[in-house]
Amino acid sequence: MLKLFEHEHLDVKRLSDEETAIEVRNLSLQFSDKPVLNDISMRIPKHRITALIGQSGCGKSTLISCFNRMNDLISGCRYQGEIILGGRDINHKKENVSRLRTQVGMVFQRPNPFPLSIYENVCYGLRLQGVNGRRQLDDTVEQALVDAALWDEVKDRLFESAQVLSGGQQQRLVIARALALKPDILLLDEPTSALDPLTTLYIEELMAGLKKRCSIIIVTHNMQQAARVSDYTAFLHQGRLIEYSDSDSLFTMPHKKQTEDYITGRYG
Ligand SMILES: Nc1ncnc2c1ncn2[C@@H]1O[C@H](COP(=O)(O)OP(=O)(O)OP(=O)(O)O)[C@@H](O)[C@H]1O
Ligand SMILES: [Mg+2]
Repeated sequence: MLKLFEHEHLDVKRLSDEETAIEVRNLSLQFSDKPVLNDISMRIPKHRITALIGQSGCGKSTLISCFNRMNDLISGCRYQGEIILGGRDINHKKENVSRLRTQVGMVFQRPNPFPLSIYENVCYGLRLQGVNGRRQLDDTVEQALVDAALWDEVKDRLFESAQVLSGGQQQRLVIARALALKPDILLLDEPTSALDPLTTLYIEELMAGLKKRCSIIIVTHNMQQAARVSDYTAFLHQGRLIEYSDSDSLFTMPHKKQTEDYITGRYG
């Protein structure tokens, strides 16, 4: 089904429901009395990489945290508007939040492996779901590590502590942990900012390969990275969505002055 439009150019302003991974409708969010997101509406395409850019504090992490309801954990957080995923509003009180977080995986800036073995890190979520069969766990762990381009480096030491891996390996391990749950959507919040340039390129290649499996949303401060890896880019400024289009157009012919100022490094 996804093959139909894998290489097709999509107009993010006119995505059909079929082509949409997440639809954000008039989303506003406040922390206590502080407005952080202001009337954001956008459709994020399936099986593409969408980058979120904008200066520090503009609301990028807050926005992606809405996509798996991580902001629920913050007291004083209120929001209005809708986030539609698979035809349902995930803010509905009947939403099954643990199922949602299986569907929408998240990887943060600093790799955060658990103090467990490599193997147990990858199957952590499955065990929480009650999966205990050795065969199923083994298969899932192997597949997730292959998909995260880490298998060859760790296959002989799966039961050693994850803490001894390098930063880049730990980040791929955390990606494997998310992939083991077969997410439809993967949220990456500055996934490479703590990594060296070569490891960064490695993770970027990995992302390109993962598009077939899921829809990817990446927050990055690195403009070259956004231009290199993402198909679409959204520019946020002070909690508003200023411009959103295919990355080539946004980086070469921005329509708004604020976008131009940001991408040419005039502020931020
Ligand atoms: N838990 C919180 N409580 C109160 N305010 C918060 C909280 N988290 C974030 N904020 C505020 O919301 C605004 C947006 O923060 P957010 O982390 O989304 O920015 P960002 O675009 O991800 O920035 P950065 O690029 O620095 O990561 C900031 O003004 C921040 O201070
Ligand atoms: Mg952030």
